[in-house]
Amino acid sequence: MPVLKNIGYLATCRDEGKQQDIHPVREAAIVWQKDTIEWVGPEAELPSRYTGTETLDAGGRMVIPGLVDCHTHLVFGGWRPDEFVLRLQGKKYLEIAQSGGGILSTVRATRKATEQELFEKASRFLEAMAALGITTVECKSGYGLSLEEELKILRVYRRLAEEQPLHIVSTFLGAHTIPPEYEGKRGQYVDLVIREMIPAVANADLADFCDVFTEESAFTIGESRQILTAAKGAGLVPKLHADQLSPGRGAELAAELGAASADHLEKISGAGVEAMARAGVVAVMLPLASLYTQVRPLNGRKLADRGIDVAVATDFNPGSAPSYDLPLAMMLACNRGQLTPAEALKGATICAAKALRRDDSLGSIEKGKIADFAVVDAPDPDFWIYHFRPDQCDMTICSGEILH
Ligand code: NIG
Ligand code: FE
Repeated sequence: MPVLKNIGYLATCRDEGKQQDIHPVREAAIVWQKDTIEWVGPEAELPSRYTGTETLDAGGRMVIPGLVDCHTHLVFGGWRPDEFVLRLQGKKYLEIAQSGGGILSTVRATRKATEQELFEKASRFLEAMAALGITTVECKSGYGLSLEEELKILRVYRRLAEEQPLHIVSTFLGAHTIPPEYEGKRGQYVDLVIREMIPAVANADLADFCDVFTEESAFTIGESRQILTAAKGAGLVPKLHADQLSPGRGAELAAELGAASADHLEKISGAGVEAMARAGVVAVMLPLASLYTQVRPLNGRKLADRGIDVAVATDFNPGSAPSYDLPLAMMLACNRGQLTPAEALKGATICAAKALRRDDSLGSIEKGKIADFAVVDAPDPDFWIYHFRPDQCDMTICSGEILH
């Protein structure tokens, strides 16, 4: 039974009190058995029955729950550095999308790639993410946009879940944009998503969630409602890309449908905030996407103060957020989104686990939860996020095994 001792500062991130309350224990120890946490507390109180067991030394450093990236588009073909440069020269994300670039350019590249190629590319990302302290990754489809191509991406996620150590949570995002074959026939594409794709995904048990890009340029509120209602009926939990580039009552729809989360929200309205607070929908802040699309970031402070759980994620994808660096997203959530480091830490652990409805087993360091944690070379969360630098994660433990 392994014991991790000499933890200077243990951020348990228990789901109690405000987002600011990370419930730290100083001079702490953690004991786990296989993949499950057995005991957590001050090292001075470590029961003698655990003293003879395999000991790891945290060297007085900080230990946090394994980070949960609750919003990524992990599987994609190609990259889009050309669009990054165009945006820096003044082109807007939407203009690029309207001229056939954007999501559709990645759809072309993803359709060309084999399942094996996509698997290998995503495996490399996951390995690098583990080195940052990440132990759970939500992964969306959405670059296939046909029944076969969407299933291909979701099968890659299933294989990743089986063959590599991080926890993978899959989301079906067939309603990412209208594919070129359905130009001028959007109703038919919505029908295809509802009548063929959702049942196929649900029957093969290839996803837990169904997401929609609710946006002027993608799917209307009415279409999103139709798709997510059908998804719910098939047992997939709704999620939304909401109010990202234009205000569109996406947050209100998330509340109406009882979605697990509404993500982006840079253009959320006051009514949207109230609706989410009342319905208990998690807000997912994606500060890397705000930065790369050059829109004003979401003010997380306003939501947290209203009692909404504010998760922080990367949105990793080749267009609007080409980085999987979750600690960087946390730093931006503070500097540009007004969260405190403690709030950003809960945002990337227990609140993110709630956005994935996995907070019963993931996202905090408590007896009975999965043994996922990271040893970080910092005395506490404030110093960690303030003195931001690469290679801060010295050890990642996932399901009780040392990965990094
Ligand atoms: O979350 N908003 C829609 N989807 C992605 C962007 C995907 C892309 O640009 O390829 C996002 O930002
Ligand atoms: Fe996204």
